[in-house]
Amino acid sequence: MTDRLTPEQIEEINKLQKEYFNDKVDLFEAPFPKGALERLRITVRASGLRSGERVLDVGTGTGVLITFILKYGPSEIHACDLSENMLERVKEKFPQVIVHLCDIRDLPLPNDSLDVVFINACFSNIMDKAKSLDNLYRLLRQQGRLVISHPLGRNFIVELKKHAPFHLDTLPDEEGARGLLERHGFEVIKFRDDPEFYLVVAKTTKPDAPSASNHEDLT
Ligand SMILES: C[S@@+](CC[C@H](N)C(=O)[O-])C[C@H]1O[C@@H](n2cnc3c(N)ncnc32)[C@H](O)[C@@H]1O
Repeated sequence: MTDRLTPEQIEEINKLQKEYFNDKVDLFEAPFPKGALERLRITVRASGLRSGERVLDVGTGTGVLITFILKYGPSEIHACDLSENMLERVKEKFPQVIVHLCDIRDLPLPNDSLDVVFINACFSNIMDKAKSLDNLYRLLRQQGRLVISHPLGRNFIVELKKHAPFHLDTLPDEEGARGLLERHGFEVIKFRDDPEFYLVVAKTTKPDAPSASNHEDLT
């Protein structure tokens, strides 16, 4: 994981990422490595997504996860990314998706407006994890689910770091993921760290909304 970066360093890394991903849109389309599609299917299933729920795909890229998300009949799909060319591709492929060109830490949707958030193959790219997780906690409803995944596993990032043109964080091990997510209001309910598959499912631990019986009519 990254030691604390300055705001200037974060901006610089985001700028490099934007340039890189704007240039590499086709690289993120199929064909995928063997087994990766099945792991993406498992990733979406692990969220417990139900028909009618509101979903966000963080760092959507070309929207590889959206094909799988659509099978569950969500009411809304939002996709956020730093790269405008990635989002252009998403709009061509999935006109129903609402796209947001921004860093996830700044996504200005209303409080409690999402049921499920996916961060697939993008957690290592998010430089301001504290502000991003705080924003996701705000955006998710009580018991909303956050899924952090990588369909090629933690070691893939270790290798990628050796030649990536910008800084990447390694993916946290179980203790690291539990600690980080708990500090930001999430409880980890599933952790899987296979050689080629990383999957963390967490839910928000927001307090219960007051029930009708707690509202005494004082008039
Ligand atoms: C490795 S690609 C993965 C794309 C896609 N999720 C997939 O599985 O193919 C990472 C994407 O995350 C985006 N990204 C990186 N940092 C981000 C941030 N802080 N907020 C939103 N998107 C970000 C990049 O622009 C890039 O398109």
